[in-house]
Amino acid sequence: MTHFNIHPRLALITGASSGLGKALSYALVKQGIPMILVARNEEKLKKVALDLPPSTHIHTADLTDAEQRKELIKLIRRRQPDLVINNAGFGLYGPTLVHPLSDLCEMVELNVQALMELSVESARVLLKENKKGVIFNVSSAAAFFTTPAFSLYGATKAFVNSFSEGLDAELKSQGVRVLTACPGQIETDFRKRASGDYPQKKDHITMTPEKAAELILKQIAKAKVLSIIDWRYRVLVPLAKLLPKQLVQAIMKKSVDKRHRFKI
Ligand SMILES: NC(=O)c1ccc[n+]([C@@H]2O[C@H](COP(=O)([O-])OP(=O)(O)OC[C@H]3O[C@@H](n4cnc5c(N)ncnc54)[C@H](OP(=O)(O)O)[C@@H]3O)[C@@H](O)[C@H]2O)c1
Repeated sequence: MTHFNIHPRLALITGASSGLGKALSYALVKQGIPMILVARNEEKLKKVALDLPPSTHIHTADLTDAEQRKELIKLIRRRQPDLVINNAGFGLYGPTLVHPLSDLCEMVELNVQALMELSVESARVLLKENKKGVIFNVSSAAAFFTTPAFSLYGATKAFVNSFSEGLDAELKSQGVRVLTACPGQIETDFRKRASGDYPQKKDHITMTPEKAAELILKQIAKAKVLSIIDWRYRVLVPLAKLLPKQLVQAIMKKSVDKRHRFKI
């Protein structure tokens, strides 16, 4: 069993209706941690909660909507979770300009704006109440690259790394940690949304959401500020930094181009 530095009294997980967020909910319940699950799809959230204790609270919210974020922040002020996992996020495959601006803005609103607001307001609540806690932000190995046909997603995750690490340095001495995980590819619905349902070939270097959740709980227990949780990406990321950037971009683009319908 993973032992936490702090034993969370209450966890809040965004994007808990599927993929990694759902796996994190199932992993956290094994540690006996009560939870608030957040996502847009109420039916899916209810299904996840069916396998969890009755104390599990579900909160339906579209985190790209400023008003709905305000409601969630009110809930955070009331319930004061001491483990807040900002996991909800999405990407879009294909050349940036093929996507309507509204879709690109939606990605920034969720991956950047919502994560920033929830990190700041959750930390504020903990400090005000003199409580220790962890804000855990889900980033991506894509944060370390500039990937043509996946540029904005990588940029949003680079923001997550930079902001979270900086905020951790600000708050650490006061007992609030801001930790970041950079997973490689995980077998979830991420690709379905990113590709607009374009048929996907199976990739070699992937991880199950259950394994990713297990590694994230280990990271929280060790209070490691930033971790590339998949060891294969821990090797690949620094290796790629040794190569010319244009070569890495060409390799990455070739890989992403297999995943979308826009053959430009
Ligand atoms: N899968 C990968 O290869 C991979 C790799 C690295 C990092 N990540 C990161 O891991 C995190 C989880 O993604 P996943 O792979 O588990 O993908 P997923 O299966 O598509 O799950 C995404 C979750 O986010 C929620 N969500 C999406 N838009 C939302 C919105 N506007 N408001 C509130 N919730 C919203 C979805 O629920 P609803 O649709 O019900 O709202 C869902 O629960 C993301 O931050 C992603 O960037 C994924």
